[in-house]
Amino acid sequence: MAESDLYDTPTIAFLEDLWGEGYLSPGGAEEVARVLSGVPVAGAHVLDIGCGSGAIAVALARDHGAGHVTGIDVEDPVCDAARARAEAAGLANRIAVQKVAPGPLPFDDATFDVVFSKDSIIHIPDKEALAAEAFRVLKPGGMFAASDWLMSHAGEPSPEMARYIELEALDFAMADPARYDAAMRAAGFEDVELVNRNGWYREVAADELEQLSGPGRAEWEAKYGRDFIAGQVATWTAMTGVLESGEHCPHHIRGRKPG
Ligand SMILES: C[S@@+](CC[C@H](N)C(=O)[O-])C[C@H]1O[C@@H](n2cnc3c(N)ncnc32)[C@H](O)[C@@H]1O
Repeated sequence: MAESDLYDTPTIAFLEDLWGEGYLSPGGAEEVARVLSGVPVAGAHVLDIGCGSGAIAVALARDHGAGHVTGIDVEDPVCDAARARAEAAGLANRIAVQKVAPGPLPFDDATFDVVFSKDSIIHIPDKEALAAEAFRVLKPGGMFAASDWLMSHAGEPSPEMARYIELEALDFAMADPARYDAAMRAAGFEDVELVNRNGWYREVAADELEQLSGPGRAEWEAKYGRDFIAGQVATWTAMTGVLESGEHCPHHIRGRKPG
């Protein structure tokens, strides 16, 4: 594990405890299924950008019938966890996990049928370059289907949002829906669609904050330490505020490369 890893071992353990084994984002298998609704995954070659610790790559292959999943991520602890998860699921022959450097995708043009991503593009500041790269590596007719954490407006975040982003300390580069929409269209995608998931996550996050700060807090503290949990409660408190105001607005994003 490198000292610079943002998703280090304790963070991975805590997030998986909250969000489900192998998940570093909320919603589990159900939310993944909603992101993929109507996307032809069966038999497809799928790229999972920011695969994290791998539950989604496994779900793509095992539950959604992807023919092959290539999961990419930028840090070793999550790549190692994802490889182990694929192996344990008996899917190592259909899931390849590759550590990559941020930037251009290391794949030939027209390699994938589906490019998927769950709550990882937030870490990629250049949304335009990412959309262009996703378009390039898709086969004609291929689909981009993602979930990501957006901010409701362009420009500077409010003081409340800036405080939340600072508390997360995860290099968040949040952009607004209009920028994603323009980036997708400029890349060449058609049928571009953005769906605001604020209403859903606002409720889920309030429940998560209750889990962390309510009667169960002592159990979390026993596992992760008082200071760590105090930090998470502060982060979740700030997050629920900006979810309530609507400034933090997770979205589903999709588009199709013309056939
Ligand atoms: C919030 S986690 C989500 C992981 C997984 N998609 C999930 O939902 O469980 C974000 C992931 O994006 C990865 N990441 C950060 N920058 C990246 C980049 N430039 N390319 C690919 N992955 C990146 C992080 O290392 C982390 O594993």
